[in-house]
Amino acid sequence: MTDKFLEQAYDTPGDTRDLYNAWAKSYDAELSENGYVTPERCAAALRAYSAGLDLPVLDFGCGTGLSGLALKLQGFELIDGVDVSSDMLEGAREKQIYRKLTLLEPGSDLPHKAGAYAAITCIGVIGVGAAPISVFDQVMNGLAKGGLTVLSFNDHALEDPAYEAKLDSYTGSGQARLLFKEHGPHIPGIGLGSNVYVLEKL
Ligand SMILES: C[S@@+](CC[C@H](N)C(=O)[O-])C[C@H]1O[C@@H](n2cnc3c(N)ncnc32)[C@H](O)[C@@H]1O
Repeated sequence: MTDKFLEQAYDTPGDTRDLYNAWAKSYDAELSENGYVTPERCAAALRAYSAGLDLPVLDFGCGTGLSGLALKLQGFELIDGVDVSSDMLEGAREKQIYRKLTLLEPGSDLPHKAGAYAAITCIGVIGVGAAPISVFDQVMNGLAKGGLTVLSFNDHALEDPAYEAKLDSYTGSGQARLLFKEHGPHIPGIGLGSNVYVLEKL
């Protein structure tokens, strides 16, 4: 099997665990070759709204830890990670930046009490080739009032109105407030952009 997965990822609907388990070893190299920049954009946006860098952050869909690394470089000190791919988690473990890493069953409740984390990140996680939009409910259920989430939707996700409609359903019903939204580069090497959002749970 080829060790290049970037293009085929966006053609993989449904459960993507096999894709990410196979991709884990070459993921960092392929993403950095193509200039994956959304983790840095998300981490900077979260920092701008965070009450403190010493408050715990959960990196949901942490993968091999590129998102955790960006958080660490922004100064976040306490970062835990969860993911559904054991091989991606192994890559995250090797980076030695997470306090705790947990393997999750897709769609299962998060293994912490709501409010245990000041923020939950969901960086490059929701969209075709990764996790379904229902993951946003999992993330919001894992936050207490005042908790923040930073997430991204790439241009493929933005073509399907269902993704942003989910965020609108939270902001429109007073369950969340949109603090930040910005379009910018996602993976410049393949000409892909993304929106980064920061929301506060109300
Ligand atoms: C494109 S990678 C992003 C990883 C990391 N956040 C980054 O920025 O490099 C998407 C990740 O989402 C994970 N994932 C896919 N479906 C998921 C689900 N239902 N729940 C949690 N994570 C999921 C995959 O295993 C993979 O590690």
